[in-house]
Amino acid sequence: MNGDLDEGIKRLAWAREHMEVLAKIREDIKSSGALEGKRIAMALHVEAKTGILALTLKEAGADVRLASCNPLSTDNDVSLALNEHFGLETHAKYGESREEYYNNLNSVLDIKPDIIIDDGTDMISMVHTDRTELLDNIIGANEETTTGIVRLQAMVRESALKFPVMDVNNAKMKHFFDNRYGTGQSTFDGIFTATNLLIAGKNVVIGGYGWCGRGIAFKARGLGARVTVTEIDAVKATEALLDGFDVKPMLEAVRDADFIISATGCKDIVTDEHLQVIKDRCLLANSGHFDNEISKEALARHSTGKKVVRRFVEEFQLKNGKKVYLLGDGRLINLVAGQGHPAEIMDMSFAVQAMCAKYLALNHDNLENRVYTVPKELDEQIARLRLSTLGITIDKLSPDQEKYINSWHEGT
Ligand code: NAI
Repeated sequence: MNGDLDEGIKRLAWAREHMEVLAKIREDIKSSGALEGKRIAMALHVEAKTGILALTLKEAGADVRLASCNPLSTDNDVSLALNEHFGLETHAKYGESREEYYNNLNSVLDIKPDIIIDDGTDMISMVHTDRTELLDNIIGANEETTTGIVRLQAMVRESALKFPVMDVNNAKMKHFFDNRYGTGQSTFDGIFTATNLLIAGKNVVIGGYGWCGRGIAFKARGLGARVTVTEIDAVKATEALLDGFDVKPMLEAVRDADFIISATGCKDIVTDEHLQVIKDRCLLANSGHFDNEISKEALARHSTGKKVVRRFVEEFQLKNGKKVYLLGDGRLINLVAGQGHPAEIMDMSFAVQAMCAKYLALNHDNLENRVYTVPKELDEQIARLRLSTLGITIDKLSPDQEKYINSWHEGT
């Protein structure tokens, strides 16, 4: 396994230092004994913050194995440190082939998990197709991201899901902050690293105005860009307008775009028809879960050649004489070229993950084979812990106020 062991250990220590909520619940989970002896198979981006979640579960008594949920999102230094310094088995490397990616998921599944922690639902899908012998032992799973939840809902519609899944993504303490502020900041971390180009004064087009798109749009504006949003949902489009952004169909927006950043969870956001009219030297980046938002097939169809002009930047020479640049092979740019979300953000998301693993361990007997919303009390507990680590207190309802807001007959 390649990597810089010392750097990996330091990066993990830095993340741990900035993940204070997880530190506070570590003791709670440990003393509950809920995860003692549980085997946990994880498929998440193998980087420092994920490392701290995996170590937290291990310290709580679980046997943990970790693979990546994306071939280009492993931090090899961290992966090495987890294996060699912390004795936590990882099966992941930056730049793994499709075959290696699935082999690694399989190796992690060989632990015969009680619980799966997934990001994008590739591992959950695998146990329902190729590794069905594992189903009997699995008490449940957590899913981290929007795309994974969309896939799981399709499984529920077809009555295919064989164990309960906690919808970590839709916990408020996850998507309010991770998808919006985390993706907003880390998308530009990735774009800066990949390009070293200016954002101010540029036309930046954001595909999708969901949680991630909103975060990216606000960061782009903060950096001085002129921002245009594309949407298919009229309410989201209206929200983008009222937030002060231009709204256009992609076919119009591409004509002036210096950067296009997709974050929809859908496919073909930039495809054949767009490449025919796209602005010369436009940079294409994606922050959605899969690498099909910017169609690489369409890029191949419309270009006469391509070359790597800088690490993470591929130049496509289009047949119409223009050039475009694809960043990070069209995969999550914040993880391919950047360092992922800030540690304080992942502290909250992974606090939800850890609490949901404990919840599954304690409650699985009463759960059905469907997708569960994270209980409101867990969200609130994590929010209070987050505020307390910052030394911030908030107001409480007085008994009189409580009575007032719960009554219907007291008016002015
Ligand atoms: P969301 O559901 O809140 O937003 C997606 C938006 O895209 C919606 O407003 C939808 O109407 C719009 N959309 C769908 N198809 C479209 C199309 N063809 N053209 C234009 N707009 C379209 O989802 P969220 O949470 O913003 O996630 C988006 C993607 O980002 C998902 O794949 C998710 O898994 C991924 N994600 C990536 C992260 C990262 O670290 N890069 C972090 C969190 C989520």
